[in-house]
Amino acid sequence: MNMEVIVAKTAGFCFGVHRAVNKVYEQTEKGAAPIYTYGPIIHNEEVVKDLEARGVRVIGTRGELEQLICGTIVIRSHGVGRDIYSLIRERGLGLVDATCPYVKKIHRIVERESAEGRQIVIIGSDSHPEVEGIKGWCTGQATVIATEEEAEAFIPKEGKKLCVVSQTTFNNNKFKNLVEIISKKGYDSTVINTICNATEERQREAAEIAKQVDAMIVIGGRHSSNTQKLFEICKKECENTYYVQTLVDLEPILLPPVDCVGITAGASTPNHIIKEVYTYVRNEL
Ligand code: F3S
Repeated sequence: MNMEVIVAKTAGFCFGVHRAVNKVYEQTEKGAAPIYTYGPIIHNEEVVKDLEARGVRVIGTRGELEQLICGTIVIRSHGVGRDIYSLIRERGLGLVDATCPYVKKIHRIVERESAEGRQIVIIGSDSHPEVEGIKGWCTGQATVIATEEEAEAFIPKEGKKLCVVSQTTFNNNKFKNLVEIISKKGYDSTVINTICNATEERQREAAEIAKQVDAMIVIGGRHSSNTQKLFEICKKECENTYYVQTLVDLEPILLPPVDCVGITAGASTPNHIIKEVYTYVRNEL
């Protein structure tokens, strides 16, 4: 049977994560040691373990960074605040900056706007490392808002003009809603939507493919919330949707006889896993 297999172009790593992971592998190939990433380079155990086997260690805190006497620090796509760059320089460590350019752009905006006297409002989750990094580029204190209640309760410092930006992965509709609540209060505010559309595009493409195929395979970590979301979206469009972590999960599944299979993957699924699944579906089903 000549079965068609459609692999989503947006399956797997987004541009920023792909770039960051590549940069770490480049360092290992150069034999630069010791290499440290500031936080796990990606939320994928397999990749982190593989890098560990190549001598890459993860450091998670400023305190750990302060202990280092040599080595190269890779800053992941989430980015970090200005103080971490200063610390790396002060300690004479090597630096590979893999901050996603879209995140970097936010750093430049908040640096400029806060230097010009605007109070920065970040629409996002206060505990997210990307937001942590953005705060670290603001002169003065930034305010982080994630909910309608927080937006309602927000009062800027007296006489302050505002600059509102967003965490790159924040939901677009929620962002608009929170901005509307803040704008209604009539403050002088500049709003810059800095949401990255990689996630939305992946979801949109997955839905489009799921509509056309007889079976859909969604690949990603069991605990990956963006993969779970992809699965739900695909399941709505295609009853025969399967959630697998790797090829091992797919092999025992007896897919019904189909003419066309779609494949997509969550943001932290490495390319080689997508390829393995593709090859299996192509040759074995
Ligand atoms: Fe990825 Fe950069 Fe967007 S890390 S989700 S491409 S902001």
